Amino acid sequence: MKYMLRTVMAAAVLGTMSLGAQAAEDRANVFYYSLNDTFVNALSADMRDSAEAAGLKLSEYDATDDLAKQLTQVQTALAQNKNPLIVNPVDALNGEAVLRNARRAKVPVIFFNRKPLDKVLSSYQDAWYVGTSADMAGEYQAQILIDYLSSHPQADKNGNGQIEYVLIKGEATHQDTQQRTSSFIRTMMNSGIAGEPLYTGNADWSYSKAVNMMRELLFTHKLSEIEAIICNNDAMALGVLNELQAHGYNNGSGNFIPLIGIDALPMAVEAVSRNQMIGTVFNDRRSIAEICVKIAKAYCEGTEITEDLVNLPINNRQIEVPYVKYTITK
Ligand code: BGC
Repeated sequence: MKYMLRTVMAAAVLGTMSLGAQAAEDRANVFYYSLNDTFVNALSADMRDSAEAAGLKLSEYDATDDLAKQLTQVQTALAQNKNPLIVNPVDALNGEAVLRNARRAKVPVIFFNRKPLDKVLSSYQDAWYVGTSADMAGEYQAQILIDYLSSHPQADKNGNGQIEYVLIKGEATHQDTQQRTSSFIRTMMNSGIAGEPLYTGNADWSYSKAVNMMRELLFTHKLSEIEAIICNNDAMALGVLNELQAHGYNNGSGNFIPLIGIDALPMAVEAVSRNQMIGTVFNDRRSIAEICVKIAKAYCEGTEITEDLVNLPINNRQIEVPYVKYTITK
């Protein structure tokens, strides 16, 4: 399938330009749900680098986690130009509203990281989604824990044959929260290692909410009862680590609770290499950014979007970037 946006844009531009003027630059509008989110912020740097390398100019918008603000930003951009939209929606429903606006304006929209519903995505032929196989991340976390337990049987502190763990989750409505959590639990169950959640709660991907959650948890539980802590992302794992260290745990002194995150943020990678966390899972933000840029660029140039272009399978205009386990306990 060829996308002829470039031709249409060029014709429109020529109509208003004098002969000999330069052709329009390739441009895209990028919308982030919140640049306060550590992972999304790091991804935005990759997006800028990828765009620069590909010769795509970006206009960037930060919705600061505000649904209405994001929709206004999208509508304002659509009123100004027909550049492809690259959108990290504030939530799945907002994704639907963004898609309706893009479809009305006949502008392509590439969603990433937060997934609108499948039926919404499939309702517009120029809507794409670039995300990850979130199931894989939960499965990798379970494997990291299982490997650790097999070489550290003393991690079952009370020797009752099961692992009492704490599970700290991301935003309840986010597909990554749901899939990472259920695949972690499923993989633990299938492994035959009995796991018992002592506590689960949503800290919404946030470092400071995870710190507060740990503080509250310590009103009702002792650290000596907790045999593992699993977090849906690294920002929350780092919040937990901060709190553990404030109580003399996970700092090399001997008191230790196996702790696992997801994303492979630089600080988490460092914590793993210092044996303060047992692992994380690399959420390949660089590839996510590159693929979004490649699709937007292809629309600008009117070229075909193929599996060769994105280097991954494409299913109904959806692309899943694989995760990679990061651990030193391998
Ligand atoms: C990342 C989280 C991030 C969230 C934002 C997830 O894929 O792992 O760190 O906060 O996306 O949507």
